[in-house]
Amino acid sequence: MTVVRTVLVAVGTRPEAIKMAPVIRALREQPWVRLRVLATAQHREMLDQVLTTFDIVPDIDLDSMRANQQLAGLTARLLEKMDEVIELEKPDLVLAQGDTTTVFATALACFYRRVPFGHVEAGLRTGDINYPFPEEMNRVVASRMARWHFAPTARARANLLAEGVPEPHVHLTGNTVIDALYHVAKGLQPATVPADRRRMILVTTHRRENFGEPLQQVLRALRRLIEQRDDIRMLIPVHPNPNVAPEVRRMLGDLPRVQLCEPLDYIPFVAAMQESFLILSDSGGVQEEAPALGKPVLVLRDETERPEAVEAGVAQLVGTDSHAIESAVGRLLDDPEAYRRMATGASPYGDGFAARRIVDILRHDLIG
Ligand code: UD1
Ligand code: UDP
Repeated sequence: MTVVRTVLVAVGTRPEAIKMAPVIRALREQPWVRLRVLATAQHREMLDQVLTTFDIVPDIDLDSMRANQQLAGLTARLLEKMDEVIELEKPDLVLAQGDTTTVFATALACFYRRVPFGHVEAGLRTGDINYPFPEEMNRVVASRMARWHFAPTARARANLLAEGVPEPHVHLTGNTVIDALYHVAKGLQPATVPADRRRMILVTTHRRENFGEPLQQVLRALRRLIEQRDDIRMLIPVHPNPNVAPEVRRMLGDLPRVQLCEPLDYIPFVAAMQESFLILSDSGGVQEEAPALGKPVLVLRDETERPEAVEAGVAQLVGTDSHAIESAVGRLLDDPEAYRRMATGASPYGDGFAARRIVDILRHDLIG
């Protein structure tokens, strides 16, 4: 008789869905898995975009997003609803990815119900509990409650071992974002050079710790760059967070050669990364993807829990000071040698086979 295990996969936001899609696809093919996909819908439109792209229909949808939601309210809603789902579905294992409120609530709900929790993208650390906020704490706490830790890099694995996580519970797998990226990128046509030959700078920004003055500084730098240079254009898919979108539109909405748009579906976004000359972002996922596409990425943060690309010389931490941003962008635009050194195509975060490794480990541990 075939042994079957119920595996519940929880996703809440855009990046979790992108990074879990390869795992969900791999689990679907396993005869020993009864798969239940749970959308907490911490994000709504942006989650649905990804689920549609990857042809994933959630079995359960908690529909939790509220406009301008606060951390405590969201956490409370998720925890209660998650508890009900666990009671109903009785999973043998629950998986979640990353460092969002969805992950924190999922891990805690599993702990309360004594259900084994597997953490995908485990072990990233800045070491500063307030940065990124609240994600560093979410990830640390999720680690304390996890039975399986799928570390994307050797450094992430070392971080977990240094915190006392038993070695057999930590697995070096690579980051599933590279699986998703390669899956999409292989179906795309090579990028074309636009007729006007202006170099495209792709920008994304949404981090909570950049709300207010840091975001203003970033936007001022972008404004000045466009005003001072005729040889560039910008594409900015605007994150819908109400602390971000109105500011971006107010500061940049009137500029020529700046295209503000709604969040792009994942496939057009990957195409936009490929078409870009340079990427500016405070996103975690974009920091991982840009190097794999050979695109220099300037990280709009003071600290990163993803230092591998910086150390490999393919990403640069520029922070949010407007002069620092202008000068770093100017250097890459005007110094071909500096640009070439950053555009090497190194992929420190994965090789595209992370999901397969994760599923193999689970099969081994759950059914032998
Ligand atoms: C969340 C995560 C962050 C992750 C980011 C990815 C937490 C605390 N934050 O940040 O770690 O990097 O997602 O994008 O878990 N909104 C919409 N439609 C959407 C999504 C968001 O309108 O599809 C708006 C809503 O007003 C919502 C607000 O954005 O209340 C904030 O959403 P929330 O998930 O709390 O935080 P993010 O800033 O998106
Ligand atoms: N992304 C997307 N459309 C966009 C902007 C980003 O599909 O308009 C993708 C991007 O390729 C990456 C992920 O969303 O895989 C990153 O999500 P986000 O920046 O929202 O969150 P973070 O990674 O910072 O947690």
